[in-house]
Amino acid sequence: MSKDYLMRKDIYSLIKEKIVSGSFLPGQRLNVRNLADILHISTTPVRDALLKLSNEGFVEVFPRRGFFVKALSEKEVLDIIEARIMVEGFCINNYFDEIKKCEDIDSLKEKMLEVKQTKNRKLFDELDKKFHSAIICASYNNNIIRFFNELWEKIEILRRHNERFMKSNEEHLKIILSILADNKKKAYKALLIHLSNVKKETLYSLNEGIKTITRGGVL
Ligand code: NI
Repeated sequence: MSKDYLMRKDIYSLIKEKIVSGSFLPGQRLNVRNLADILHISTTPVRDALLKLSNEGFVEVFPRRGFFVKALSEKEVLDIIEARIMVEGFCINNYFDEIKKCEDIDSLKEKMLEVKQTKNRKLFDELDKKFHSAIICASYNNNIIRFFNELWEKIEILRRHNERFMKSNEEHLKIILSILADNKKKAYKALLIHLSNVKKETLYSLNEGIKTITRGGVL
């Protein structure tokens, strides 16, 4: 791998990480020149990284206006949740035994109980991804895992503003207890209820929550 290739990949990862983590906010302008100055590089690799991110749906390009962090539309949120129902529901139904045998399941349950006690938001955030990933990874299907990770990254920024984490934690517990009780039907039903609530909350964050964030501006 050439040094140039590595650098391009790093710039791409760096900008993507700032979008996914919410440092760069939806609708925020990404100025190629400013980014290049901050990173002490030329504008070409910055532009290349932004074009790659626009192909992946993280950035929007407007002719003569430049690059902007993409704001998800309501339709896109609904599409992501529908795809999550499809892929997570499929794994519960088809890889239930593998999920049950997953060595993380017991420790995930213990940590969910800890969140219930301590109301630790940071721990909840860690568990959320770990728990949903455990369901997905039980498939040992790299295509499914990659697909799920793409969905998760897109919704991550909205998820982080989700205020209902204690309720979400309860819903996760319901799913995991059904898994441990070997009740596939109940686990599937609890997953559907959880994702339906995630949908409601995410749409709320999209329409209300994100507007209240006053950070941002031009980078
Ligand atoms: Ni969840």
